[in-house]
Amino acid sequence: MATILDGKALASEIRGDVALKVSELSQKYGRAPHLAVILVGEDPASQVYVRNKAIACEKAGIRNTTVNMPESTPEAELLAEIGRLNKADDVDGILVQLPLPGHICEDKVIEAIDKEKDVDGFHPLNVAGLWQKTPHIEPCTPMGVMMLLDAYNIDPKGKRAVVVGRSKIVGLPVAKMLLDRNATVTLCHTRTVNLADEVRRAEILIAAAGRPRMITGDMIAPGAVVIDVGINRDPQTGKLCGDVDFDTAAEKASAITPVPGGVGPMTIACLLLNTLRCFQRRLGDL
Ligand code: GUN
Repeated sequence: MATILDGKALASEIRGDVALKVSELSQKYGRAPHLAVILVGEDPASQVYVRNKAIACEKAGIRNTTVNMPESTPEAELLAEIGRLNKADDVDGILVQLPLPGHICEDKVIEAIDKEKDVDGFHPLNVAGLWQKTPHIEPCTPMGVMMLLDAYNIDPKGKRAVVVGRSKIVGLPVAKMLLDRNATVTLCHTRTVNLADEVRRAEILIAAAGRPRMITGDMIAPGAVVIDVGINRDPQTGKLCGDVDFDTAAEKASAITPVPGGVGPMTIACLLLNTLRCFQRRLGDL
């Protein structure tokens, strides 16, 4: 039976560590780290994510401001709000919840965020830092995946790692992080010919395609480590499910993340870590 990679437990440990450090630094500097989250519109999933981020901040002693802007907000107004938060000396981290309404250019918005406050690690200069191995803020989900592997002593060195999905947020950066840890990386996508054969070669599989249960047990090599980044609604039951069919994959894998309770909680823990680090860097205390 596969080891369950318990992201919820690890995230809770990390959040405890962050809370301790936040408490110590808040005493030392007379203020807590401060994360500003901007939500444009009323997408229900985004509202849940933003609320969860606020709750996690509160539990860690991190000050949180959620800025709610209407769906019809002109791009210029959003950019102006980001400009204000960039200048605000008591704001350490800025996160603009994605996706944005169609009339707003996401790239322009991300580029407007001060790279030192970019807790998502999405700013082009932070992305460049990842690819050029210069100091940068890491994107939360890939960072959470790597921390989960490390916590269970799964060393990517020399392993065949297969990443399914080439998004800017997960697939591309996690592929680069695995490469930097000396894995031999295959990056699969919608045009990959015979995905099953590629996935079958994986010693470490990262599923980040956003398609419910697209990876089934017959595609998993015996003993593979399976990391499921997917957060989908099962079209039949409406319940949360991953990109991996957990039950059949768990029969083949040596270790596997559940959904929920795997990568998801790690993303939030890493957001708190990034906020703490931005605070420390701005104070010259890192
Ligand atoms: N929407 C879905 N995932 C994310 C994320 O990691 N960051 C932001 N800002 N928006 C998201």
